[in-house]
Amino acid sequence: QKTEKFTFAVVTMSDKGSRGEREDTSGAYLLKTLTSEGYIQVSYIIVPDNVPVITKTLIELADKEQVALVVTTGGTGVAPTDVTPEAMQQVIEKEIPGMAEAMRYESMKKTSRAMLSRGKVGIRGATLIVNLPGSLKAVKENLEVLLPVLPHALEKIR
Ligand code: MTE
Repeated sequence: QKTEKFTFAVVTMSDKGSRGEREDTSGAYLLKTLTSEGYIQVSYIIVPDNVPVITKTLIELADKEQVALVVTTGGTGVAPTDVTPEAMQQVIEKEIPGMAEAMRYESMKKTSRAMLSRGKVGIRGATLIVNLPGSLKAVKENLEVLLPVLPHALEKIR
């Protein structure tokens, strides 16, 4: 049992999802799993693959809502619409490259396509923001790497 409860938000980056044209199974999985791990859900948002919209959403969650953890899914790849890392660049104050590289490293053991994810991890204020790829399979595999280090990371950053 954790000594402390941390709040979290899930942000799904998807043009189709934001128009209600695709069921967001990855977002749903994140909500379910993080809640069962003892984290407190405060927000769940689906946004289009649009830099200003993503940037505004992430900044609000950090500065206004003061959420401890924001996990994003999608938009990390190499398609023209994939702009999550470009938005992150404008949002985070400190980057934690090791966390993103650890997820890619472990993911490479499952699929060489893992190298196509450009997801970042970083800190804004007292908020940790983690980019995961979009597919449900990728979310499951990356979350497995992320979960063990989260409590210590969240305790240290505030
Ligand atoms: N990581 C894991 N662990 N498992 C996966 O199946 N898929 C990859 C990669 N990371 C994958 C993964 C694929 S196919 C792509 S294109 C990139 O994540 C980027 O995904 P995104 O554009 O949905 O963010």
